Amino acid sequence: MNADWEQKYTEGDTPWEKGAAHPALIAFLKSHPVHGRVLVPGCGTGHDVRALAATADEVVGLDIAPSAITRAKAQPAVGGERYQLGDLFALPPSLREKFDVVFEHTCFCAIVPSRRTDYVASVAGALKPGGHLLAIFYLDPGLDPGESGPPFGVTREGLDTFFSPRFSLLREWQPLATYSGREGRETFRLLQLTGAADGET
Ligand SMILES: C[S@@+](CC[C@H](N)C(=O)[O-])C[C@H]1O[C@@H](n2cnc3c(N)ncnc32)[C@H](O)[C@@H]1O
Repeated sequence: MNADWEQKYTEGDTPWEKGAAHPALIAFLKSHPVHGRVLVPGCGTGHDVRALAATADEVVGLDIAPSAITRAKAQPAVGGERYQLGDLFALPPSLREKFDVVFEHTCFCAIVPSRRTDYVASVAGALKPGGHLLAIFYLDPGLDPGESGPPFGVTREGLDTFFSPRFSLLREWQPLATYSGREGRETFRLLQLTGAADGET
């Protein structure tokens, strides 16, 4: 079932909201500053957007929940960031094939598993040819038996299955720095857009 994300924000039911960018993203940016145009789908209140905006030329934070976008816009600007209300699965032409990098963090795990192929197609569609997906995937959200997501977990093999038709995996590592409670439950991946969409030659 699709979550009502706006309701979660208005009711304060936002356990993912940590008040800061992901520690592994901050660590990565110290040694690998990201440049160019970056898209952050499911950006929430924009902590990762602002961390990326310290080095990137332009960062667009996209979210389907109006309250998330309002809260993100209320934060002091760091650089060339902006926030846009919208659905990752219905990207407007202004966001298609425009980005050097897509940064993923707790968006993939937020969508229903039946839409994972659509997620890959949307991210691929946002990137310029040869663009990169930098992703912290939540493998194991530690749900109780019988409890369903979001967040929805995924295995490394599952990630390979969904992403390999459109992306090459360049690097994978275990994030050492993370939020309390997520230790050992995530994987950090750098992928590059390579495959053609169905119907393309
Ligand atoms: C678990 S929250 C994570 C937010 C943020 N990445 C963070 O870690 O603080 C998932 C976010 O994805 C957004 N979202 C869910 N489905 C979306 C969609 N189809 N398009 C854009 N945003 C979406 C939700 O509104 C929510 O802000």
